[in-house]
Amino acid sequence: MPLNVAVQMDPIQRINVKGDSTFALLLEAQKRGHNLSYYTPDRLALLEGRVFATVETLSVRDVVGDHFTLSAPRRTELTEFDVVLLRQDPPFDLAYVTTTHLLERIQPKTLVINDPASVRNAPEKVFVTEFPELMPPTLITRGLAEIQAFRAKHGDIVMKPLYGHGGGAVFRVTRDDLNFGSLFDMFSTTFREQWVVQSFLPAVKQGDKRIILVDGEFAGAVNRIPAPDDLRSNMVRGGAAAKTDLTKRELEICKTLGPALRQRGLLFVGIDVIGDFITEINVTSPTGIRAVKNFGGPDIAALIWDKIEAKRKATA
Ligand SMILES: Nc1ncnc2c1ncn2[C@@H]1O[C@H](COP(=O)(O)OP(=O)(O)O)[C@@H](O)[C@H]1O
Ligand SMILES: [Mg+2]
Repeated sequence: MPLNVAVQMDPIQRINVKGDSTFALLLEAQKRGHNLSYYTPDRLALLEGRVFATVETLSVRDVVGDHFTLSAPRRTELTEFDVVLLRQDPPFDLAYVTTTHLLERIQPKTLVINDPASVRNAPEKVFVTEFPELMPPTLITRGLAEIQAFRAKHGDIVMKPLYGHGGGAVFRVTRDDLNFGSLFDMFSTTFREQWVVQSFLPAVKQGDKRIILVDGEFAGAVNRIPAPDDLRSNMVRGGAAAKTDLTKRELEICKTLGPALRQRGLLFVGIDVIGDFITEINVTSPTGIRAVKNFGGPDIAALIWDKIEAKRKATA
């Protein structure tokens, strides 16, 4: 049965056609005969308890420079769709939070992937703290004395914003770095919320591994190795993708996290592991599908659609 699918995403004009995971999901959906519609999150509205969006029918092609065609826009009630893919990128700000509130209203008639309430309740660097035994020593605070005590105990640290993404404002501070005081002041004035102080993991030189779980099960992985002159492994910061396998410990991490993800309706999740420690659980708009496939791994877009189709069948 073809499904009516809407994707809520950032402007499709601007995506990296060959690397974008949302685009890989759309190509696979189209291949399976599902009907695709597209809208950006700013087009959502709530009127008398019903959620509307201005959508355009979408067709996609895996061709750089000619990757999509959109129909004329039309205003429609979102419950018209069997499935909505919640796929806009961070920042995880109030605009993001608002869309999760609106999408919550179309359930259970419409299946929203990932579950919007769970996405809202699981910011990447907060959710992961529910699994302290899998994490490096981590402190979330705004307190100078607490950070000083943490530094005294753990030596080299990393300071990074709690709602950062793409490696933005991630700093390594060595044991006797004289810049710490200024950096503390800058974080205090820049951010209103607590930020992350974490043990520096020297294993980052060997990479920050993105492991993808589909409905709580390991689906594929890709390593990201930082450029020699940067701490950050993020590809947008020059990190290089590399083929990888899972270690025993990483398989255990997946086993531990799996049930929590499944139970929350977090169907497509990317976790980040540096040297046996998990640092993030990405639930908003994880990436990596295409890199995994390019290195000879499984077709995760197909795995995800298998799961979505099965879930839709179960509730039909
Ligand atoms: N504790 C750490 N030890 C070593 N490197 C780290 C640590 N935390 C972050 N990094 C480096 O910084 C990059 C970005 O940090 P991350 O926590 O993943 O935030 P973001 O959400 O911005 O990707 C990581 O990919 C890694 O290269
Ligand atoms: Mg990261």
